[in-house]
Amino acid sequence: MFEWTEEALKSHHDTSTFESGNDEINLYLRRFAFRNHRRNISKTFVACLRTDPQVVVGYYTLVPAELSLDDLPGRMRPGLPRYPVGAYRLARLGVTRALQGQGLGRDLVTAAGLRALEIADQIGGVLMIVDAMSEDLADWYQRTFKMEPLGDRPLTLAVNLRTFQQADDA
Ligand SMILES: CC(C)(COP(=O)(O)OP(=O)(O)OC[C@H]1O[C@@H](n2cnc3c(N)ncnc32)[C@H](O)[C@@H]1OP(=O)(O)O)[C@@H](O)C(=O)NCCC(=O)NCCS
Repeated sequence: MFEWTEEALKSHHDTSTFESGNDEINLYLRRFAFRNHRRNISKTFVACLRTDPQVVVGYYTLVPAELSLDDLPGRMRPGLPRYPVGAYRLARLGVTRALQGQGLGRDLVTAAGLRALEIADQIGGVLMIVDAMSEDLADWYQRTFKMEPLGDRPLTLAVNLRTFQQADDA
């Protein structure tokens, strides 16, 4: 196992060699993530190894969102108002190929959920949403984080943020 730290993306982070196997995810980190972070368009948080703290080995990007009750599966609706509720979209997620399959992706999603929950405690927000890049990944989000696909959009999934708190307490 390897030790890593989570940090907000800063100019000293080296993103130039990040290679996740997905060009869109690589390009976003290398070219756009920091610019967007600085302008508050979206916020990116990176994983760096303790042994090589400048180099980014994983990341996630969050943006505020909202979701209407009609989009949610029936069992997620109780207790929510009829007007749109605040949410946080996991807009990007990537792990460097060399470290994939060792739990970093799962830990980054959990870190994103806990961060969103912290923000929600201050300004509101109930859900995390993700647009999975494939059916297999949608399946992974369902199995690992109990996310639920939205009615007519099987690759868009949502979960109550409290789920991350419960998983962290367990
Ligand atoms: C998806 C990704 C972030 C997962 O990171 P990771 O560190 O390998 O994830 P973990 O080790 O925590 O978990 C691995 C799990 O992800 C699944 N997985 C990884 N890549 C996958 C893919 N392309 N399709 C389907 N499942 C995938 C594995 O099957 C494994 O499932 P399991 O927990 O049931 O065994 C990483 O593979 C990645 O960066 N992929 C390229 C970019 C990408 O597709 N991003 C997702 C955007 S929705």
